[in-house]
Amino acid sequence: MHPRSLLPVICIVAAVAAVVFYSPPPVSAQSLSLRSSSFSVALETLQKHINYDFQNIGLLRRAMTHSSYSEENNKAFSILGEDIIETTVSLRLLAKDVDISSKDLTDRVSEISKVETSCAVDGMRLGLQNVVRVSSNTNSSTSSVVCGAFRAIFGAIALDTGKSDDAGNVFLVVHGGAGVLCTSKSVHFGRRTWTRLCLK
Ligand SMILES: *[C@@H]1O[C@H](CO)[C@@H](O)[C@H](O)[C@H]1NC(C)=O
Repeated sequence: MHPRSLLPVICIVAAVAAVVFYSPPPVSAQSLSLRSSSFSVALETLQKHINYDFQNIGLLRRAMTHSSYSEENNKAFSILGEDIIETTVSLRLLAKDVDISSKDLTDRVSEISKVETSCAVDGMRLGLQNVVRVSSNTNSSTSSVVCGAFRAIFGAIALDTGKSDDAGNVFLVVHGGAGVLCTSKSVHFGRRTWTRLCLK
């Protein structure tokens, strides 16, 4: 037999061997369960909505975990997040008007970090009530749960980058909506309609 006529045979044998001996890269049980859970899908969507991709997605998982659900929860992240929001807003207001009175500054900062009128509204807009993990007898739509999760996002971002400025910038965009810092939109929350506050 001419060697050239063997070529198709060799090709077929090689192809069969490649299929038989190919072993897919190992997939850990953890990454499989991460991929398949709807919580993970929700975290992916949330990252798109806030326009920030976590290096360590575990931080966002924790931010979206209420204390009723797990010991590994968002309580401490939320404290950091609240601080970041207040610092960011203070800095912004003072940068615009260095003569702002201490009373005005205090009032405006507290308006923006208020649980019901601002923080929970921002959280509801992101749909956090549908993402945050709570125990079966906890209502995830209450303002304290939604607000805690909202604040925790910024604590998580600061931990992810090691810089609170990064988290503050994400807050300004999320709060203002597409970089516009003064949009007085009404938002329906529970039975009431809230007007979102401007950061002008
Ligand atoms: C959960 O809380 C929201 C907001 O306070 C409320 O509108 C809703 O009725 C509550 N749901 C249940 C099942 O209690």
